[in-house]
Amino acid sequence: MSRIAVTNLKISHFRSYKNVEILTSGCPVALFGSNGAGKTNILEALSLLSPGRGLRRSRVDEMERKPEGIGWKISATLQSLGQIHEIETIYSGDGSRSVRIDGKVTTQTALGRIARIVWLVPVMDRLWVDGAEGRRRFLDRLSMSFEPSHAQYTLDYERAMRERNKMLKEGINDPAWYSAVESQMAESGRKIEQNRLYTIDRIMEAQTNVQTSFPTAQLGLVGANNEAIIVDDLKDAFANNRRADLFAGRTLIGPHRDDLTAMYSAKETAAKLCSTGEQKALLVSLILANGRALSQDFGSAPILLLDEVSAHLDIERQNALYEEIISLGAQAWMTGTGKELFEAFGDRAQFLEVNEASSGSFLK
Ligand SMILES: Nc1ncnc2c1ncn2[C@@H]1O[C@H](COP(=O)(O)OP(=O)(O)O)[C@@H](O)[C@H]1O
Ligand SMILES: [Mg+2]
Repeated sequence: MSRIAVTNLKISHFRSYKNVEILTSGCPVALFGSNGAGKTNILEALSLLSPGRGLRRSRVDEMERKPEGIGWKISATLQSLGQIHEIETIYSGDGSRSVRIDGKVTTQTALGRIARIVWLVPVMDRLWVDGAEGRRRFLDRLSMSFEPSHAQYTLDYERAMRERNKMLKEGINDPAWYSAVESQMAESGRKIEQNRLYTIDRIMEAQTNVQTSFPTAQLGLVGANNEAIIVDDLKDAFANNRRADLFAGRTLIGPHRDDLTAMYSAKETAAKLCSTGEQKALLVSLILANGRALSQDFGSAPILLLDEVSAHLDIERQNALYEEIISLGAQAWMTGTGKELFEAFGDRAQFLEVNEASSGSFLK
């Protein structure tokens, strides 16, 4: 079967691990063990096989194993649509992390083209309740799974915006200076919003006409003023907002202020008003729909990192989730405190017990 999967993972001096190697057949992996054993650390290592700061959004130096603090290294064999790649990402004690694909030094954004990875982590239990930033990040991670260049557009946009914000802070008034930087922001910003809207469309489409136990959601993208985003001329919008932005000392409008809205379809209730369990089920639903859409577009579902995902799901939903993972053919890496949580997988998943000792976490 063509799928995206990590078949070999080596973690070195990362978080609670000194050295560990995991071999998989490409099937789902269930990591179980007590709190603090080192389960999430493995998902975090996997998340660093994609562009960005990983699923905890930590600084690179926070992830080096203490007390040694000698940097860290994560290597993986990635099977992606019939091809096999060797990926390596290293933090050697200063600067940022470096990336090699098949022995060649490359950029983090290049990772996104071969490793499509999305995740659900416990802090997202508050995703629909907390501020827009988390929802935007979540949507951007899904967008990146469809369109790897999304990561680069985001970097380009942020770089240009930092420049504009500096000018705003210094009270610079020269329209020509603004015009240049606003053109860059408008260009990358337009791509970002196009990708986000495309992702929302594909996910909504993938929610219809499917047998699923998970609720469907009406999704939308709104801007800082709460109006639906239509990808129009951002350049004019930035120019028109200069006066207000100068007053605030930063850019008040644009894709960096967008928000993902969600409505629980069956109940016509905004996601933020739903119960914790419903909110979790919505997130799972979106992840699964993203997986279905991606396997249609691209031939494989992404790698799914599901940290403690069964916590707010009743047993029927848990089992439904597992069945959907299997039928998607996705390599899900899941964590939970007990092995019994994943019983319904039977021999369709690989089970690994995570333990900790004074010499570091280890697997059985
Ligand atoms: N940089 C680090 N160096 C050494 N140990 C770390 C580092 N960061 C986190 N840890 C340890 O990792 C453990 C938490 O691992 P985690 O994967 O979150 O556990 P869980 O199994 O509950 O998901 C804690 O014991 C913590 O002290
Ligand atoms: Mg954990």
